[in-house]
Amino acid sequence: MCVCQTMEVGQCVKSAVCDRGRGVLLEPFIHQVGGHSSMMRYDDHTVCKPLVSREQRFYESLPPEMKEFTPEYKGVVSVCFEGDSDGYINLVAYPYVESECMDPEDPPERDHPRRKHSRRSLHRTNSNAACNEHKEERPILTGENSDSVQEMKSPKLELVMHSEVPFQMLDGNSEMSSERISFNPWSLRCHKQQLNRMRSESKERKLYKFLLLENVVHHFKFPCVLDLKMGTRQHGDDASEEKAARQMKKCEQSTSATLGVRVCGMQVFQMDTGHYLCLNKYYGRGLSAEGFRQALYQYLHNGVQLRKDLFEPILSKLRRLVSVLETQASYRFYSSSLLIIYDGRDLPRPGGAAAQEPAPKVDVRMIDFAHSTYKGFRDDLTVHDGPDKGYVLGLRSLISILELIRDENQ
Ligand SMILES: Nc1ncnc2c1ncn2[C@@H]1O[C@H](COP(=O)(O)OP(=O)(O)O)[C@@H](O)[C@H]1O
Ligand SMILES: [Mg+2]
Repeated sequence: MCVCQTMEVGQCVKSAVCDRGRGVLLEPFIHQVGGHSSMMRYDDHTVCKPLVSREQRFYESLPPEMKEFTPEYKGVVSVCFEGDSDGYINLVAYPYVESECMDPEDPPERDHPRRKHSRRSLHRTNSNAACNEHKEERPILTGENSDSVQEMKSPKLELVMHSEVPFQMLDGNSEMSSERISFNPWSLRCHKQQLNRMRSESKERKLYKFLLLENVVHHFKFPCVLDLKMGTRQHGDDASEEKAARQMKKCEQSTSATLGVRVCGMQVFQMDTGHYLCLNKYYGRGLSAEGFRQALYQYLHNGVQLRKDLFEPILSKLRRLVSVLETQASYRFYSSSLLIIYDGRDLPRPGGAAAQEPAPKVDVRMIDFAHSTYKGFRDDLTVHDGPDKGYVLGLRSLISILELIRDENQ
């Protein structure tokens, strides 16, 4: 959870770097369904996240056959954490210039249990900034706790709450919350935590390195996103004993151990209510194998009907991915996720002509390589043999469960 794991920090060279004319004001990325760092929107086609050098190097050395299944890597920016005259915090990205950033080694992983959510009051990033002409349709999200709603009462954020599509959080007890907010509740939570961390570290202005990645949901008007943590093991080879033990426990107590996959986050557009339904990682961690199957069903259900047209496109991508990963000897994708994406409004036309319809667009992408390794990568001492069996098991489970749901609902 600690941001020190995920950031490289240098001192900001104020005059050269923090020049508003050249900067891009980052906004919270509203379609973040999982993860712990705050994903930011850089432009319509690009998201950015705090840089971990392992992940950066991994993207830079991806085998060509995996590129179809990963976001395009777009480089690095320096991000400044700036308060504006109203006391609001802005994250502003500038072109990365090596000499302007101290480039320390990744700080050692801090190994303490997840921090309790801070209730310290905090001004939020101004998402309505003039220097960013972001015209994306803004759904309204329904929040997961009163803390986040408090935040949303910030006058600046009221300005962006003009979307027509609400979101709803389905919490661990399957109760709908009635609070309405502008972002996926998980995105809001991560963003708030990150600002807290950056604020407590930022006694003086600093530059943070962020990774620029293709926004893989940008083709989708109403993106339905499923984040699946893949594999039977989540800790990297460099994890401390305590961290490894915690991660192993989470695997043992979830479908990771049995199926090689667990739900880490989800949003799915509901045609009947006009909401996105959202699940978070805590919900996903508590699911049994049967619960996992039901969550997959829910991901493919728009509140009115099961999207049967999605089975084949998703299955064929998953099968292709299995065949690619089976050839990646020594690769291990610990703690990485698989995103599945489709459009919640891209419906087959009524009238039985579905067979002639083009297949709906779906996407399947691997993300989050902060703990990945392969033979010869960096100075990694542990070398693994053969393909990532845990990951492949997760893909095979996913394929069988989808086939089962398809067959049961012919
Ligand atoms: N390239 C991307 N395009 C669109 N959404 C993304 C992309 N990468 C990540 N996300 C969103 O952000 C979330 C967290 O991403 P991840 O890389 O796993 O972060 P972390 O390192 O904090 O775990 C994902 O669940 C997904 O919703
Ligand atoms: Mg992640």
